[in-house]
Amino acid sequence: MSEERGYVVVGERAEDQNDIEELAYEVLVGLSSRPKRLPSRFFYDDEGSRLFARIMRLEEYYPTDLEHAILTEHAAEILQCMEGRSFNLVDLGAGDGAKTMILLRHLAASGADVTYVPIDISEGAMRGLVATIREELPAIRVEGVVAEYHRGLQWLVRQRSERSNLVLFLGSNVGNFDRAQARGFLGRIWSALRVEDRVLVGFDLKKDIEALLAAYNDREGVTAAFNLNLLTRINRELGAEFDPSAFRHFGTYDVNTGAMKSYLVSLEAQDVRVGALDRSFRFDEWEAIHTEYSYKYLRSDIDSLAEDSGFVQVSRFEDQRGWFVDDLWRPRKGD
Ligand code: AVJ
Repeated sequence: MSEERGYVVVGERAEDQNDIEELAYEVLVGLSSRPKRLPSRFFYDDEGSRLFARIMRLEEYYPTDLEHAILTEHAAEILQCMEGRSFNLVDLGAGDGAKTMILLRHLAASGADVTYVPIDISEGAMRGLVATIREELPAIRVEGVVAEYHRGLQWLVRQRSERSNLVLFLGSNVGNFDRAQARGFLGRIWSALRVEDRVLVGFDLKKDIEALLAAYNDREGVTAAFNLNLLTRINRELGAEFDPSAFRHFGTYDVNTGAMKSYLVSLEAQDVRVGALDRSFRFDEWEAIHTEYSYKYLRSDIDSLAEDSGFVQVSRFEDQRGWFVDDLWRPRKGD
């Protein structure tokens, strides 16, 4: 833990090298597959995190505002589960932390003994977040971790403190996982928790399809830029020669699986060289790379997921339109 920075980068430089090897592996496997695919977790380099912060401010991207409203209205009720205890507020995929700030302001005002532990893969986002907290809420202790989720979970398992944990997994980040992956991930959170710990998970509900399509195909083209930035990142980190203007973003909804799916579609027949792999990949005209799933939930899907991953629902908080849910769970342990 660096006192000065307020966060640690897990693995420091050795980790950067791993990241690049992981990206190289996923590019090789994903672009050799049919249909072609790339994993969405690589969206979030510093530029990608900045673009996602812009998405969150878009008129069409409703989840951020709705979750903001839910947390504002129910902060006291949510935090009641930790009342009178010293605890860590663990924020998985914290990003710019804007929504968590609502809870932190509450905690600061009530003088709670809390350590804020934001976990995010973007060091740029973490630097900004730590600076914001120090400026706005100097009384809150911050111990950030720059790492992927699985490292964040390792942090949870390893810390042997007497403190309880309230784990936040907000913003419908869980939507990037399919149901099996979501069960697996929440199951790993379950193993890291004790009886008195709690998790708060944000779910985007199934809703009017036009609203979904608009949220992932915004008029300004910020979502398109966010998706295309993946190619720019591969160019930079793997010496690839993608021309982003030869691809277009496409977001569509699969009613069957309940997933918004994002694609990059090749506008022409082309061969794209990836230097680090010392090979090229062939794209036919209109051939697509699948880049992201954002799964939408029924309330009954959320109930099953809690049950299947070992949790008991404590409370459900919804916005007024019934479009978004923050669900508070306790681990089923010793009961
Ligand atoms: C950060 C995963 C919650 O899936 O809605 C926004 C990312 N992608 N627009 C989502 C995203 C396109 C976002 N999550």
